[in-house]
Amino acid sequence: TQGNQIDTNCMTLTRYILKEQKKHPHATGELTMLVMAIQTAVKSISNAVRKAGIASLFGMAGDVNVQGEEVKKLDVLANDLFINMLSSSYTTCLLVSEENKTVIEVERERQGKYVVCFDPLDGSSNIDCLVSIGSIFSIYRKSTDTDPNVNDALQPGNSIVAAGYALYGSATMMVISTGNGVNGFMLDPSIGEFVLTDPNMTIKERGKIYSLNEGYANLWDPAVSEFVKGKKEKKAGARYIGSMVADVHRTIKYGGIFMYPATADAPKGKLRLLYECNPMAFLVQQAGGKATTGKMPILDIMPTDIHQRTPIFLGSAGDVQDIIDLYKKHG
Ligand code: AHM
Ligand code: MG
Repeated sequence: TQGNQIDTNCMTLTRYILKEQKKHPHATGELTMLVMAIQTAVKSISNAVRKAGIASLFGMAGDVNVQGEEVKKLDVLANDLFINMLSSSYTTCLLVSEENKTVIEVERERQGKYVVCFDPLDGSSNIDCLVSIGSIFSIYRKSTDTDPNVNDALQPGNSIVAAGYALYGSATMMVISTGNGVNGFMLDPSIGEFVLTDPNMTIKERGKIYSLNEGYANLWDPAVSEFVKGKKEKKAGARYIGSMVADVHRTIKYGGIFMYPATADAPKGKLRLLYECNPMAFLVQQAGGKATTGKMPILDIMPTDIHQRTPIFLGSAGDVQDIIDLYKKHG
């Protein structure tokens, strides 16, 4: 199309997922319905995020606003949206949310075959200052024929069926992979649809940017200290937003490395395996990059707890390999 003409044949996210599913001979359309449920949650969160500044003028969570209604905090609202949309989509049986201590079993009549792990609103420290935040999710097939239980959620990242994130940045974007490359879809607010704008996203072999919280430098492993020292000698660019989705999205778009390493006081780092590290590692690998704990691939970790943490290094394959080599060197 030209100029401001309307594209009468645009590739929406729903259309893309449908097309991907048709490649599987036994596809039922369940995954398409599931991703539609996530899209609804994301659109609504995006709308809430865009108005958050105004809403907070009228009161915070637990408070009563001028209309006499209780105001929900953004992260609570995001979690409710994910849970309600997913459990009413007839496609899921078990949900894991960062916000819920235990797994959520979908009521029997509405159960489907998928397990979804999600962080409904990540980057909580950036909410009140209007810096980018995001949602992250990964989708697994239930692999046993028992009643849904916590073991169904303890699958390694290697068995992910699809994963993605939504970035509430200067625009709202969803980036997703069903195991066949990575595609980015921008929310067109005028039609309320996610439209393919970034087909086949790939990560450069090497990048100039490194991204981690340098405030913890005194607590790093020697491998991380040596790596960052090397970056400074090469006058690399330092960027750290403190919102994993925004930092990972930049890493995919511009190349480089994102790190949340172990520290002396947090030997497993901070980020959670099931709904932060695994989905991001899956996407980065699908885009041709790498994701490691320093000692093993993130996607190989066999989870034992739904909220477990892991150190993580992800991004351009060459840069991530350097940190792997340094971990070998320092033993
Ligand atoms: P959250 O789940 O409480 O929002 O914390 C996760 C966030 C990530 O988005 C980000 O990568 C990290 O915490 C930043 O942590 P730090 O402030 O320690 O650098
Ligand atoms: Mg989080």
